[in-house]
Amino acid sequence: MEHFTSVADIGDLKKAVAEALQVKHDRFAWDTLGRNKTLVMLFFNSSLRTRLSTQKAAQNLGMNVMVLDVAQGAWKLETERGVIMDGDKPEHLLEAIPVIGSYCDIIGVRSFAGLTSKADDYNELVLSQFVQYSRRPVVSLESATRHPLQSFADLITIEEYKRTPRPKVVLTWAPHPRALPQAVPNSFAEWMNATDYDFVITHPHGYELDPRFVGSARVEYDQHKAFEGAEFIYAKNWSAWADPNYGKILSSDRSWTVDSAKMSLTSNAFFMHCLPVRRNMIVSDSVIESPTSIVIPEAANREISAQVVLKRILETL
Ligand code: CP
Repeated sequence: MEHFTSVADIGDLKKAVAEALQVKHDRFAWDTLGRNKTLVMLFFNSSLRTRLSTQKAAQNLGMNVMVLDVAQGAWKLETERGVIMDGDKPEHLLEAIPVIGSYCDIIGVRSFAGLTSKADDYNELVLSQFVQYSRRPVVSLESATRHPLQSFADLITIEEYKRTPRPKVVLTWAPHPRALPQAVPNSFAEWMNATDYDFVITHPHGYELDPRFVGSARVEYDQHKAFEGAEFIYAKNWSAWADPNYGKILSSDRSWTVDSAKMSLTSNAFFMHCLPVRRNMIVSDSVIESPTSIVIPEAANREISAQVVLKRILETL
């Protein structure tokens, strides 16, 4: 594996899940593979799970890890090419990236969508420069349009919990007070479309995702109908993708909150969310605390997805 930025980089999903379960069974079996190798993780945005799980995964492999919060203690970085740098950003990515690359063997980058320019976001303005200029394998720790380590962990979790070979999996929009990127739903859709699951997306009108990510999924605007017979409910908020409303909140309709009444329409579905989650906006207390809520094992699998990705990259170095 050269870089890990989307589902295309993981190859055969069945093999990837089998490898993940092998890693989970004995996560210290490759504890010398990363000896004298260094992972730098660069965060342009906040994180709890990605930071801790990826660091733990790297340490399981014997790697050294350095973490840099770009917003705290580092120089502010200019990302646009050709600008006159007379503002508050004293360093350009074009110098910072190769410098960081010179200190490490693998680079992890978290850089969210700005939600002001769809072109910048969907061209992956920041991540693509790391891929182009670092001369190191790059792992997306969530980019403007995708969150592949999360989606891989989601897939592992579904494979562990599914009760039927081809479960109905529903991605549902839910309300949130702030405008959020489409990275998690895009990525989840991309990974679910790479399986043979019965995959349905439900959201209010106006929240259509980029058709390149929707792919072969069925879109159902009636959330109740979408939930019927579902075995997994994956909740997430996202802002509008379609023009002219890119990045905007069009609805905060709390009738879309996932609650017990809606879950009763499902086939005793498991509830999933990538976390952090706003309780009683996205999901009711009763659902997230129910026996079928698997948000904690889902988050725990972030260590496993990260370890498989780092292991595969290390095996090529
Ligand atoms: N799910 C996820 O990526 O969590 P963090 O933002 O806390 O890393």
